[in-house]
Amino acid sequence: MIQNIPEITLNDGLTLPAIGLGTYKLNGASGVQAIVSALDAGYRLLDSAFNYENEGAVGEAIRRSSVPREQIRVTSKLPGRHHAYKQALQTIQESLYRSGLDYYDLYLIHWPNPSKDLYVEAWSALIDAQKWGLIRSIGVSNFLPEHLDRLIKETGVTPSVNQVELHPYFSQEEQRAYHQEHGIVTESWSPLGRASRLLEDPVIQKIARDRKKTVSQIILRWHIQLGALPLPKSSSPSRQIENLSVFEFSLSDEEMQAISALSRPDGRLYDQDPAVYEEF
Ligand SMILES: NC(=O)c1ccc[n+]([C@@H]2O[C@H](COP(=O)([O-])OP(=O)(O)OC[C@H]3O[C@@H](n4cnc5c(N)ncnc54)[C@H](OP(=O)(O)O)[C@@H]3O)[C@@H](O)[C@H]2O)c1
Repeated sequence: MIQNIPEITLNDGLTLPAIGLGTYKLNGASGVQAIVSALDAGYRLLDSAFNYENEGAVGEAIRRSSVPREQIRVTSKLPGRHHAYKQALQTIQESLYRSGLDYYDLYLIHWPNPSKDLYVEAWSALIDAQKWGLIRSIGVSNFLPEHLDRLIKETGVTPSVNQVELHPYFSQEEQRAYHQEHGIVTESWSPLGRASRLLEDPVIQKIARDRKKTVSQIILRWHIQLGALPLPKSSSPSRQIENLSVFEFSLSDEEMQAISALSRPDGRLYDQDPAVYEEF
């Protein structure tokens, strides 16, 4: 089943489909099977990371699927322990060896880890890896405006994407406004709130009933109308199709506002504020 998915153009000209597949926890043979099923369903953007230990599964799924490599956008991310310039370049190369791919379409710095103060160095490595053709587009994840300001000021290169925690309980209004002002595309991680109590929220459940859609479809449609690119993860072929089927209806302004009103300043799922939370 192939869906008609709109495309978004990044600041360097690369296009991404307006929704992608999260792959955290899709590992090994069952992970390969789930990713092949997603490609069959019509997903053309895959989000992985060095630290998910599934770049191999992503590469294998691409080789097993009937979709040509050039039609797929593949993302991976640089872990915090390898921000130093030389290590960052070697890690990008290792990411490619693990996946068996010749290039990544998008490569992100996974977390800024500000106490280590090496993210500008890591960014210089991504800039060079892009020049050498290892990566088509370069971006970041979990960067606050203060971190983005430094990258732009010190290197002159603006990330194409910032992938941040975003769901109705944490709508990232200010962060999204910064991105819009700087031409950075917002990708949403944990767009379904990792299937937590968000899926039981009465406000969203009512809209879903009114619209004859599922709660997940309403949430994903909310992301799309905000202008964010959601990356829902599902291992189930039917839920993968359900999550893709969000382009043939739209939410009213009132419905959008009702969902956005659920956001809270402390709405992060795991208290992962990039100003203080670090991952290696
Ligand atoms: N950059 C970062 O720091 C960062 C952090 C976290 C995540 N991410 C990325 O973002 C992706 C998505 O985030 P996530 O995996 O944390 O959470 P998520 O996509 O919000 O939620 C995934 C959970 O929702 C369930 N689910 C999916 N579709 C559903 C549906 N239609 N109805 C009911 N349940 C459904 C999945 O179960 P089934 O698999 O059983 O369907 C899974 O348990 C990750 O996979 C990863 O690629 C990035």
